[in-house]
Amino acid sequence: MNPSAAHLTVAEPYLIQQDWQGYTFDQHAVWAELVRRRMPQLAEHACAEYLDGFQQIGLREDTIPNLAEVNKRLGPRTGWNATPVSGFLPPDAFFEMLAARQFPTTTYLRGRESMEYTPEPDIFHDVFGHVPMHAHPVFADFLQHYGKVCAGLMGDKDKLERMGRLFWFTVEFGVIRQKGEIKLYGSGLISSHGESNYVIQGGPEIRDFNLEQVLDQQFLVSEMQKVLYAVESFDQIYEAAQEAERRLA
Ligand SMILES: [Fe+2]
Repeated sequence: MNPSAAHLTVAEPYLIQQDWQGYTFDQHAVWAELVRRRMPQLAEHACAEYLDGFQQIGLREDTIPNLAEVNKRLGPRTGWNATPVSGFLPPDAFFEMLAARQFPTTTYLRGRESMEYTPEPDIFHDVFGHVPMHAHPVFADFLQHYGKVCAGLMGDKDKLERMGRLFWFTVEFGVIRQKGEIKLYGSGLISSHGESNYVIQGGPEIRDFNLEQVLDQQFLVSEMQKVLYAVESFDQIYEAAQEAERRLA
């Protein structure tokens, strides 16, 4: 077991090792294709913190990330780890990991037949999409706090659904205004060419972030997002997680 994960209890059965040596040449080539396809657009449209994080944690274009290497760089910065897991986690295990600054990370990589979209979580979405933001101190604190609040709401389906919307409109589909432009930070945007194009072309209605609205805003996983919420800074989502705690806990 990963020694840094020793204190996890609910999530413990889902922890695995990443068999990095086991990836094939072709799988590394798929990773490289995925990254090369996304990077030109992200260089222009991703937020500065994502692009910094990508460099800081040492992600590379040509090889699937070795999570142990990523963690050597990420851990000292914010205390977060990308922790290998076997697949989708039940909510209690997922929140336990977030509260412990461990991001559940799948090690499977999609095949060539699903370059744009995969219904299963995979290492491209999880690591390329999510983990660079965990190098940012405020985002790092926000995500841990989010996990802690949700862990305390287990059993209350309605409140967890509302918190799920906060996750969706920040961690997965968040956008931020920087120098007067909309920039991407949500992993569902970062890792998807189609979703990002839709935003860049002005498809979704972009509203100012408002916690009350976000907690009430329904969404469909299976369609392009019609509404997104733009923050002005990452302090805003950290404060929103604290405010959600006051309202729901
Ligand atoms: Fe995700």
